[in-house]
Amino acid sequence: MLSERMVEALNKQVNREVYSAYLYLSMSAYSTFKGLKGFANWFMVQYQEEMTHAMKIYDYINDQGGQVKLMAVQQPPTEFGSPLEMFEKTLEHEKFVTKCINDLVNLAIEEKDHATKIFLHWFVTEQIEEEANDNEIIAKLKLVGKEGNGLFMVDKELATWVFTPPATVSEDEA
Ligand SMILES: [Fe+2]
Ligand SMILES: [Fe+2]
Repeated sequence: MLSERMVEALNKQVNREVYSAYLYLSMSAYSTFKGLKGFANWFMVQYQEEMTHAMKIYDYINDQGGQVKLMAVQQPPTEFGSPLEMFEKTLEHEKFVTKCINDLVNLAIEEKDHATKIFLHWFVTEQIEEEANDNEIIAKLKLVGKEGNGLFMVDKELATWVFTPPATVSEDEA
């Protein structure tokens, strides 16, 4: 049983995860337009991941007998500058999401909602990984600078990323 406050906060997070997906889809489109296929692939994978995050919370609200209420999704930017600037924006956005997840955990503690607190643990861990990935790519992009060859190598590496559905989702289905 979820409190009204908790349902409302979780619904807002569904919206933020869908917005994250939309933002990364926009970055993927931008990368394709700029001829950076690897970057486009990386952001497409992020788009898929963010949709699974949204659906994870969506399913949880339903499982707990709450009502999912979808909200308008904000329009994402369409111009992102250099690949480095794009990843800096990505990290900044992920840090904002991390803060939102922490606020949700705080609310769950305040509401003595142990189920939601445990449910949110997955997201706490996920955010550590997301920020680490972004930091790693930012470091690489700073290393290669604006040099064409280096950028080509990073683009090639990002082309190898594949979407793997979160383990807990497949466990649930098993
Ligand atoms: Fe997410
Ligand atoms: Fe994310």
